[in-house]
Amino acid sequence: MEKKITKIGVLTSGGDSPGMNAAIRAVVRTGNYFGLEVYGIYRGYAGLIENDIHRMDNRSVANIIQRGGTILKTARSKEFRTSEGRQIAYNNLKNLGINGLIVIGGDGSFTGADIFSEEFDIPCIGLPGTIDKDIAGTDFTIGFDTAVNTAVEAIDKIRDTMDAHDRLFVVEVMGRDAGYIALHSGIATGAENILIPETKTNIEDIIKNMMEKEKRKKLVNLIVVAEGDDFGGGDAVGKAIKERLPKADVRVCILGHIQRGGSPSCMDRLIASRMGFHAVESLLEGRRNVMVGIMNNKMNYIPLKQALKSKNKIDTNWLKIVKILAS
Ligand code: F6P
Repeated sequence: MEKKITKIGVLTSGGDSPGMNAAIRAVVRTGNYFGLEVYGIYRGYAGLIENDIHRMDNRSVANIIQRGGTILKTARSKEFRTSEGRQIAYNNLKNLGINGLIVIGGDGSFTGADIFSEEFDIPCIGLPGTIDKDIAGTDFTIGFDTAVNTAVEAIDKIRDTMDAHDRLFVVEVMGRDAGYIALHSGIATGAENILIPETKTNIEDIIKNMMEKEKRKKLVNLIVVAEGDDFGGGDAVGKAIKERLPKADVRVCILGHIQRGGSPSCMDRLIASRMGFHAVESLLEGRRNVMVGIMNNKMNYIPLKQALKSKNKIDTNWLKIVKILAS
């Protein structure tokens, strides 16, 4: 028989994302509503190992729904990758009587949760918190909507100066392994080219295309590049174009971590609140080692392993749309 859940822990792990605070708030308040003791674990798995674990009441999560970052702080823990580290983490939970864990993070955090709950008798629930949106089983991840809107706002500003000077801009957005931010922000800002890690970049094609545009005096061009694009990101693309198109006035802008911060959008606050509530409910209903996602606006539960293995696949048809709309 499943053990009754009485005390739960919540942590944020990996890269932070806007909306993590809204998720923490939802977990804490739902847990308290159901009469559970809720504990916040600081700095992800690192804090779990260092016993940086504190009781949270409803007031401790007041006035955070609108704040970016994570009040629990986050980290990428090397020690948790070792079985010794995980043993210490388990002992700390056991000493406090915590018998359910909610992990808000990306795929690396889920890998940790999955191994941990297989080694020890502790049910873990994952909430997809990453700006990259590269997780299967959910249409959106907590933070993606805010990050992509930050990118769009920044690129719109770049477009003003780009247009004033008749320039070619290469804008690099985040996404080491995933092109969602590039694809969404690129389409929304009318980019001529979008380069993502999921497809091979043919720089010769892009240069040919720019040469053809130069001939017909179309000098204002925007190329949005994901940082993990195989050609080497924004700087490499900008350099190659400058070399081959000496007349073009080329500038490179790397948006960087600005995309990770800021007040979460309504959408991110909403999905984080819904996911947080259902994470606690899941533990109480006896679910274990699943990720709580939202698909077609309905809650969706998939094993953590599946969320890891089958990363969300980019629909490359979207790239066809880019070509047609930017001609
Ligand atoms: O996973 C989120 C993300 O922002 C990626 O898009 C990016 O490549 C990475 O984290 C950056 O990580 P760090 O903040 O450790 O440099």
